[in-house]
Amino acid sequence: MSCSRRKFVQIFGAGAAGLLLPPLSASLLAKEKVSSFSNAYALPPLDNGKRQGNQVTFNLTMQRGKMSFFPGVATSTLGINSPYLGPVLRAKRGDTVSLNVQNRIGEESTLHWHGFTLPAVADGGPHQRIASGKTWNATFQIRQPASTLWYHSHQYHGTGEQVYKGMAGLFYIDDENTSRQSLPTTYGVDDLPVVIQDRAFQRNGEFRYLGMMPERMQGMHGDTLLINGVVTPTLKAQKTLIRLRLLNGSNARIYNLAFHDHRPFYVIAGDCGLLASPVRMNRIRLAPGERAEVLVDLSDRSPVILKTLKGAIQTTGMMGMMMNRMNNDREFAIMQIDPRQAESSSYRIPGVLLHPAPLSVTNAVVTRPMKMNMAMMGGMGMMGGGSRHDGFTINGRSFDRQRIDFSVKRGSTEIWEVSNSSMLPHPFHVHNVQFQVLDRNGRPPYAHERGLKDTILVNPDEVVRILVPFRYYADSQNPYMYHCHNLEHEDQGMMGQFTVV
Ligand code: C2O
Ligand code: CU
Ligand code: CU
Repeated sequence: MSCSRRKFVQIFGAGAAGLLLPPLSASLLAKEKVSSFSNAYALPPLDNGKRQGNQVTFNLTMQRGKMSFFPGVATSTLGINSPYLGPVLRAKRGDTVSLNVQNRIGEESTLHWHGFTLPAVADGGPHQRIASGKTWNATFQIRQPASTLWYHSHQYHGTGEQVYKGMAGLFYIDDENTSRQSLPTTYGVDDLPVVIQDRAFQRNGEFRYLGMMPERMQGMHGDTLLINGVVTPTLKAQKTLIRLRLLNGSNARIYNLAFHDHRPFYVIAGDCGLLASPVRMNRIRLAPGERAEVLVDLSDRSPVILKTLKGAIQTTGMMGMMMNRMNNDREFAIMQIDPRQAESSSYRIPGVLLHPAPLSVTNAVVTRPMKMNMAMMGGMGMMGGGSRHDGFTINGRSFDRQRIDFSVKRGSTEIWEVSNSSMLPHPFHVHNVQFQVLDRNGRPPYAHERGLKDTILVNPDEVVRILVPFRYYADSQNPYMYHCHNLEHEDQGMMGQFTVV
C-alpha cells in the first residue's frame, strides 16, 4: 500500500464507519410511522407574471420558512414566494421579462436563470449580488425555443447551501410551436413538473449539510428523496398519457431513472428544447442541473414506481471505493404514479416533434480544451481542510472572481473539448448558451442527448466535444460562468468565467 493510499484509508475508513448507523431521516420516518408514498404529489404554483403585451413582470421574494417534510417535524428552509423552492415561472419566446428579486433571507444571495441566453448583467451569477434587504432586477428578452429551464441561487462559495435549503425553481418557455405540437400541455393535469432532490436531515429535523470530508469531495448526497419538496409522494394521474418535466435539482446526486416494471418511456426534450422525435428508453441518467421531458403511457392503469437504480455513477480508483463506502450509488424509490382513476388521454406518442434546428459544425472557429480535475492525493492539505478552494480546477485553475479566463467573439461558434481526468463524474455547465453534443470519446452522443443542452455529464477519462454558439450579447466587463454543476465542486472552485466581446 502506498503512503498516500494508507493515509486515504485512515482518513476515510474512520469517517465512513459512522455511516453504518441507520440513516437519520429513515429513523425520523420510523418514529413518525410514515409509509412511503403516503404523501400527495405537490404541484408548485404556476406564475405567468403580470403581462402587458410582450412585457411580463415577475415579483419574486427570497424568503426563509419552515417546512414539515415529516409530520410534526419542522425544518428551516429557503424559498422564493414559498417556504421551500419557488413557483414555476412561465413566459413565451419574444417576451421581455422583468424579474424583480427581493432578498429577505438576511444574507447575501443571487438568482441565476439557468439555461437562458441573456445579457451578462442579467445572468444572476456570483457577480450580480443581492444584498440582504435589497431588490435586484433582471430584464431580458426570451430568444430561444420552448424548454424547461430553471433558476437557483449562485451565491459565491454559498451556492450549494442555499440551493440545498430550497433556493430554486423551474422556468418554462413556450414558443409558437407549443400549441401546435400534439403533446400534453395542461399544467398540473397532464404536464407535470418533477423536481428531484436528495436531502439529509439531522435528528432535530433540520437539514444536515456537509459534514465529513468525503462529502466535500463527492458533493452532498442525502438519503431522503424530495419531489417538489415532498418526501416520496404519490401522484394521482388524471390522464393515461402524461408528460413529466424532470429536473435533477440535487446538489451532487446523479440519477439512473427507471420504472419499477421497466416499462418504456419516451424522451421528448433535453435541457434546452425538444428532440427531433421521441426516444424510447427504459432508463435515463440525469446529472445535477440536467432536465428531461418524458411521456409516460399509463393506459394499463396500474400503479408504477419511479425509481433510481444503482449504476448511475462511474468512478475509478479510490473515489470509487469511497463512493461505495458511503453508499452513494444506490437504489431509491422516488415517486409512485397511480393511474387507477385516470381518464383516457386523447394524445398518442407522436412520431416527430417540431424541434429547434441543429447547429452547424462548419462555422466553428476555435477548439478550446476544458480539463476538469480534482487535486486528490497531491492535495492532502485540501482534504484535511487546509485550503478548501484550490483543489477543484478547470484547466488547472481554481475559480477566481477577479480573473476572466478567456473571451469569445459574439456571433462565433466554438468547439469545447470537455475532459475529466479525475476519479468522479462532473456535470459540465455553461451559462448563456444552448450547445450541441458532438461526440463522447469519439462516438456519437446518445439519442436523448442530441437536442440543445446546457449541462453535460463527463465521466472519468471521458472527452465530450460540444458545439457552443455565442449568439447575441457582448459585454467586455461582465462575465458568464462555466462550471461543474456538482454544487460542492463549484463552490470549491471548479468554475471559470468568460466574456463575450
Ligand atoms: Cu445552474 Cu452556473 O448554474
Ligand atoms: Cu447556469
Ligand atoms: Cu464536479
